[in-house]
Amino acid sequence: MFKNVIVRRPSKSLVNGITSAPELGKPDYELALKQHDSYIEALKSCGVEVTVLEADERYPDSCFVEDVAVLSKNCAIVTNPGAMTRKGEEKEIIDILKDFYTDDKIEYVKAPGTIEGGDVMMVGDHFYVGLSERTNEEGAKQFIEALEKHGLTGSMVPLKEVLHLKTGLAYLENNNLLVAGEFVNSPEFEKFNKIIIDESESYSANCIWVNDKVIVPAGYKKTKKAVEDAGYEVIVVDTSEYRKLDGGLSCLSLRF
Ligand code: GLY
Repeated sequence: MFKNVIVRRPSKSLVNGITSAPELGKPDYELALKQHDSYIEALKSCGVEVTVLEADERYPDSCFVEDVAVLSKNCAIVTNPGAMTRKGEEKEIIDILKDFYTDDKIEYVKAPGTIEGGDVMMVGDHFYVGLSERTNEEGAKQFIEALEKHGLTGSMVPLKEVLHLKTGLAYLENNNLLVAGEFVNSPEFEKFNKIIIDESESYSANCIWVNDKVIVPAGYKKTKKAVEDAGYEVIVVDTSEYRKLDGGLSCLSLRF
């Protein structure tokens, strides 16, 4: 179960965030703020304490706070983002992590290693690490070594198409895994009870499990039904403005 969540408010500079889908248009900042409010409310309704960090105008993508750290029950690992415009964001999370972890439980991935939290999926004590344009082998190696130091394990998963590992996967606990696109037939995920996301709804693979409820993005009926059919209470949150920047429900928070 998660007790805490950290989010960072979107900055006005959000409109200049990285995107692979410029055809979706620029995010509407005011709407993004409203959607962020709803996201925080949805998290609170799952019984977690939400720490809200101030917007950081220097970093357009800084509301995607999941990418700058990975938080587990045993340790916190500060990442080293692979995207040029996100370098430095990781330094801004360290102070708040010290409210939750002692210094000996905080690890750091260093250059030439790069890794972003969106590439990390926690399944109990094991962490799958996607090798992507943002996460390199050296970053994944340092990350797994840090996990092992704290009694946890990790393994690497090469990505072919998606931005981050969790663009196409969401672990819903109880061995249930939402899978989309390139991961549907991956041997790494054969042992899971796979809930396959319809191709027309691939964005909605990025759901989050929070204390037995699942937050699902608005507008994806098939995914919502599939998650409900798997026995979960679903909370729907609109993330349309974050989708314009390749962002989704998981990227917007650190849950631990
Ligand atoms: N726009 C989110 C990211 O690319 O990091």
